Amino acid sequence: MFMDNNDFRKKAHRLVDWMADYFAEVEDYPVKPSTAPNDILNQLPESAPQDSESFEKIFSDFEDVIMPGMTHWESPQFMAYFPANKSYPSVLAEMLTATLGAQCMSWITSPAATELEEQMMIWLRDMIGLPSSFTGVIQDTASTATLAALLMAREKVTDFEVNASGFSGAETHTLYCSAETHSSIEKNVKITGFGSQSLRKIGVDDMFAMNPTALEKSIQKDINDGHTPTCIIATLGTTGSTAIDPLKEIAVICDRYDIFLHVDAAYAGTALLLPEMRDMIDGIEAVDSFVFNPHKWMFTNFDCSAFFVQDEELLVRTFEITPEYLKTPEDERVKNYRDWGIPLGRRFRALKLWFVIRTFGIEGLQKKIKHHLKLAKNFKQRVEQSANFELMAPVPFNVICLRYHPPEVSDEKKLNELNERLLSKSQHSGEFFLTHTKLNGKFVIRVVLGNTNVEQRHADAVWNHLQELSQTLTSQK
Ligand SMILES: Cc1ncc(COP(=O)(O)O)c(C=O)c1O
Repeated sequence: MFMDNNDFRKKAHRLVDWMADYFAEVEDYPVKPSTAPNDILNQLPESAPQDSESFEKIFSDFEDVIMPGMTHWESPQFMAYFPANKSYPSVLAEMLTATLGAQCMSWITSPAATELEEQMMIWLRDMIGLPSSFTGVIQDTASTATLAALLMAREKVTDFEVNASGFSGAETHTLYCSAETHSSIEKNVKITGFGSQSLRKIGVDDMFAMNPTALEKSIQKDINDGHTPTCIIATLGTTGSTAIDPLKEIAVICDRYDIFLHVDAAYAGTALLLPEMRDMIDGIEAVDSFVFNPHKWMFTNFDCSAFFVQDEELLVRTFEITPEYLKTPEDERVKNYRDWGIPLGRRFRALKLWFVIRTFGIEGLQKKIKHHLKLAKNFKQRVEQSANFELMAPVPFNVICLRYHPPEVSDEKKLNELNERLLSKSQHSGEFFLTHTKLNGKFVIRVVLGNTNVEQRHADAVWNHLQELSQTLTSQK
């Protein structure tokens, strides 16, 4: 026996202690490791061990080899990309999920998992103010959910012809998103067979939101050219600057031309927990599908992406295949979530949502989100008042796009170089992890105040950090 039940118990207790220490101390780690490519790989044996190795040895390698190469997403100094935040109840639920090890492809493979998922999707739908005509399912990521949405759009417009016969090669479908849309849309347009050339990237306004007039013009041109407008993807909270596409106006256009409308609210959907943020879903009745990720901002471990659709039958018909070995007597009376998306096998993800929502309560979640929004508002004011930094985009949520801009430098190329250097210095410091984007060709540093335990002192510290580092650049300007 390599590890018996007694051993497991002891080791698990030890790991729980390690986990609690990690959470308590994560702020003391360099948020981003200083390892170079292949540093970790070079420490790993070239082949698997023939003989059993002790847990002590494995765990000490975890601490000595793996941990120094980890980026600490849990750290409040992690302000890069979007967070993949989490919370104690979520981690505890994940321990149970791993222990049960259920593969929840069908109702019968764990009735409780299916039924809890069904109820969690109703809770979530109501918590973020979606109409009751929506029904939901948990996907691994927003990328997968959007892939499912595009496949639904494809089957709807072709009356399931592509599912049956494949593309004929004479198709004329066109899809629309803004120039600021996440890269997963383009990837999905490739995967679904529409082809990148069928994707129209619509221009944005000065808030980086889709311009609906340009959208309609593009649709009309495509119709005149003999194309079939098939799907529009609107984003609430773009990845670069969290811009909000004007859903209401886009929805009217979708209605007018009978086009499938998918909403990608992967990050910002969590803000809908606050009723005062729901202006951005004006027009939601016309939306066909909607995705948001509790695994980004709702304190629920990666992975957990909530995908809602209005037409459950269309979704299931797009994916359903029931081989003999999966048939069960209850099929007519239950949900078999394997038919609601791409993979057959499914993790028990609803459990962590149940733990998180019950532990925080709706009010607790709202309080946390409001706190993040307030931190961002304060931070934005600082940038606006600074003589040396410039705010580069509106701040509707908790992402601040800024750049260092000393008054004496006006050349855009120089400003880009300065900010690239500033970010590189920041990343090398290991004190904070910030990342960048480009807006209108301008290099922009993003500060994301969305980690579970981010506080005012962390926002103060990153502001001081940027200011201090910028001073070291000035001398070399
Ligand atoms: C707006 C938006 N959509 C989709 C995605 C993809 O998310 P996922 O990693 O869940 O596929 C992201 C990732 O950051 C995003 O910002």
